[in-house]
Amino acid sequence: MSTTSEELAQARQRISAAYDPQLFNQSAHRLADLLALNLDRAQRSEGPVLPWMDPPDAITEARASLHRAETSPDDSSGTDCPERFAHLVTTMLERGLNLQDPRYIGHQVPAPVPLAGLFDAVGSATNQCMAIYEMGPWATAVEQAMVRELGEAIGWAPDSFAGSATHGGSLANLTGLLTARNVALGEAWEQGLADSAARPVLLVHADAHYSVARAAGILGLGSRNTVRVGLDRQGRMDPRRLDEALTRAHSLNQPVVAVVACACATPTGAFDPLEEIAEACRRHGVWLHVDAAHGGAALLSGRHRHLLAGLEQADSVVWDAHKMLFVPALCTFILYREKSHSFDAFRQDAPYLFDPAAPGMAEYDSGVRTVECTKRATVFGLWGVWSLFGRQLFADMVDVTFALGRTFYEKLSEAEDFLPLHVPQCNIVVFRHIPATLRAAPAERIGAFQLELRRRLIESGEFYIVPSTVDGIGALRTTIINPLTTPAHLEQLLDALRRQGQELLRG
Ligand SMILES: Cc1ncc(COP(=O)(O)O)c(C=O)c1O
Repeated sequence: MSTTSEELAQARQRISAAYDPQLFNQSAHRLADLLALNLDRAQRSEGPVLPWMDPPDAITEARASLHRAETSPDDSSGTDCPERFAHLVTTMLERGLNLQDPRYIGHQVPAPVPLAGLFDAVGSATNQCMAIYEMGPWATAVEQAMVRELGEAIGWAPDSFAGSATHGGSLANLTGLLTARNVALGEAWEQGLADSAARPVLLVHADAHYSVARAAGILGLGSRNTVRVGLDRQGRMDPRRLDEALTRAHSLNQPVVAVVACACATPTGAFDPLEEIAEACRRHGVWLHVDAAHGGAALLSGRHRHLLAGLEQADSVVWDAHKMLFVPALCTFILYREKSHSFDAFRQDAPYLFDPAAPGMAEYDSGVRTVECTKRATVFGLWGVWSLFGRQLFADMVDVTFALGRTFYEKLSEAEDFLPLHVPQCNIVVFRHIPATLRAAPAERIGAFQLELRRRLIESGEFYIVPSTVDGIGALRTTIINPLTTPAHLEQLLDALRRQGQELLRG
């Protein structure tokens, strides 16, 4: 059945209404007011940090609004559209996790500098996506400007290195390790690994983020060939054990695809001794990949830069801006010390995209270097905030949150009913609450108590922290990643845990 001209005219009218600049203008003004109000309330901790809702109820509510436009079609094109837009935005704000509340002390995902979100919105509303330079010329320029700034912060000479942005640290780890595999195993991209007699291995920090093990699986290396290198008492990769593992692999004729070190490791934020690790890698002629997703930002702080000494010797580095550079997810960089390696991850022809008539352009086409073909312009927020406030703001946020990690550790150490489980090197602090009545309880009971206590705490909306395990026993984990959190909030957290803990024990 063909569409009549009258139906087409009606369809065009509905489309025009959705694309109307005036509607956009009115809605955007409402949005600015609502976001600013929400920010102010969140910073003053007016509502719950997490407005807990059971998932099925949340889904039912989210579905309900989908059908409102169909039951009253005039609403979507009529004058009350900005009003309904404001209503939907209000619902989004009321139902979401309030990372801007200083009592959010949870995942390695920050309370972003709010203006970063506005720069991102420019990219979204105009769809400045990437794959090739001409699709997103300014998005590409911004991404490459940041690559240069971050590479130079690592200590690499201008123009000697390269990199690109990816949708998150997991994809960046995969991309870096794919590059390492192609370099170490020559023909692996074309031939695969099925025919290789020697089993190539990956030597990784024993507590590396799970995306590293996933990368090993995806790359066909196999989880059995991922060797977890032992750690010292502070949770850092032990260079002596790394050296032994490298020597063993060599004596067994097993090619080593890469060594994966962490700066810092996810569980407790421990920074590996990169200088010694790099030295071992150099001696054995092996690729060093450093996952600096969380800790890379410490390079920007004069006080904490030393934690990353040796990073400049890495072959590939992962750095999440959506962690300690305080911009909205996702914004990650995969960086290569040697410029040419950024073209070693992928080999394919796509003549409809990569124009042979302009060969020099490939250097600027992100699609040749990343898993993504179409890629969101992920760097506008970082570039915008950096341009507005300068590098100092990032140093300040690292300094303030790392100092709070130390303050929190001291508070935990002083309290009789709290036990810090490590000396923090950054803003990640893992601990247990052990009320007097549980002091003699078996470790498993104490561990289970931490997890029950945490669930109770987050559902109350008072604070947001995350669960963890240390030596297989439950623990509480905080990442102080809202730079407006203060020592007073940390005191309140201990009080809230005590109170919720008592109620839990009373049953
Ligand atoms: C050390 C480390 N690497 C990689 C990742 C994964 O990054 P993403 O969540 O951006 O994929 C994380 C996440 O917390 C991490 O802590």
